[in-house]
Amino acid sequence: MLYGHDKIDILHLPTPLEHLRNVSEDLGVDIYCKRDDLTGLATGGNKLRKLEYFLKDAIDKGATMLVTEGGAQTNHGRLTAAVAAKYGLKCAIITADEYPGEISANLLLDGMLGCPVYFVSDMENGKQAVLDKFAAEGEKVYYVPMGGSNEIGMLGYIECAAELDKQAREMGIPDANIYVTVGSMGTYLGMLLGLIDCGSSLKLTGINVLPYAEDTTDDDANLEALKSALWDYYCTAKDKLAGGRDVWGVTPDDFVIETVHIHGAYNNAVSEVRDTMYYLARKEAIIIDPCYTGKTFEAVVDDAKSGKLPAGSAVIFMHTGGLPGIYTKHHRVELEKELMPYMHIGEF
Ligand SMILES: Cc1ncc(COP(=O)(O)O)c(C=O)c1O
Repeated sequence: MLYGHDKIDILHLPTPLEHLRNVSEDLGVDIYCKRDDLTGLATGGNKLRKLEYFLKDAIDKGATMLVTEGGAQTNHGRLTAAVAAKYGLKCAIITADEYPGEISANLLLDGMLGCPVYFVSDMENGKQAVLDKFAAEGEKVYYVPMGGSNEIGMLGYIECAAELDKQAREMGIPDANIYVTVGSMGTYLGMLLGLIDCGSSLKLTGINVLPYAEDTTDDDANLEALKSALWDYYCTAKDKLAGGRDVWGVTPDDFVIETVHIHGAYNNAVSEVRDTMYYLARKEAIIIDPCYTGKTFEAVVDDAKSGKLPAGSAVIFMHTGGLPGIYTKHHRVELEKELMPYMHIGEF
């Protein structure tokens, strides 16, 4: 029981914390990887930790169906579909994105998992129409927010923080700096509060990949807008989980975030990020994705090279999953162009 909420055990926990010897030697910083890409169902990822808590809440409330929303290539949607399939619930994903013209990456997996995806041009009306349809069919819908980021989803990462703190102490890196991706914020905020809860001396740096400012290319505006959104989320969590008591004592100054790795837009194809993906694959055989973890590992590499991460210090890169993203058309096309020289067709 965590802050009044229980969960259903879906995952094989703890996920491993691995030392990455080759990149550590190369960059002069001691780099570890928390393998939250290995969380289990349907190619894994961070959202499953949140879904353990959502599933319990949904079943307790008598739900027959999970519905969620996100981008067409939402990893969170795919994992919501996975959990629903495994636990005998129906599921649907609603997206305001346009149909991309092909059923690839997460969309392919959504279909395999038996989960319909509704492409609505206007989220507000479209969402209501889809929800009305399922209500008329007699379904009791449990709505999981975008990215699973509310006070319930966050609990999965409050719990993960204690798991990681224990592993870091056992591995002799109790004050390492954790680099984690910030999208809809639940993973970062859960980690922040969880580290406080267990009295950890681990540090936390959030790498933002989802612009919060209107001008998505303005890194400073993004930082300001994200900090304000995080503060609102924190205040809501405080109310809902702790009855308004400030059990964590967080101030906006506690949010340590980098916005320079957004590269101007969410889920865009960026050649430097692909180079980082090749680097980690070729040094450690770990595959990261172009939307989330590629940008976060780029931050680890850049900060190691610039000395922002001091030589010899320990850093933990949170691998939050997202593998299907490499098969999204606009990423796959660029990857294929760059990887064509590896194909030797009829010549030796
Ligand atoms: C692979 C991956 N990593 C990181 C994140 C970011 O997590 P959060 O939305 O909790 O900030 C997401 C969110 O969709 C994700 O899919």
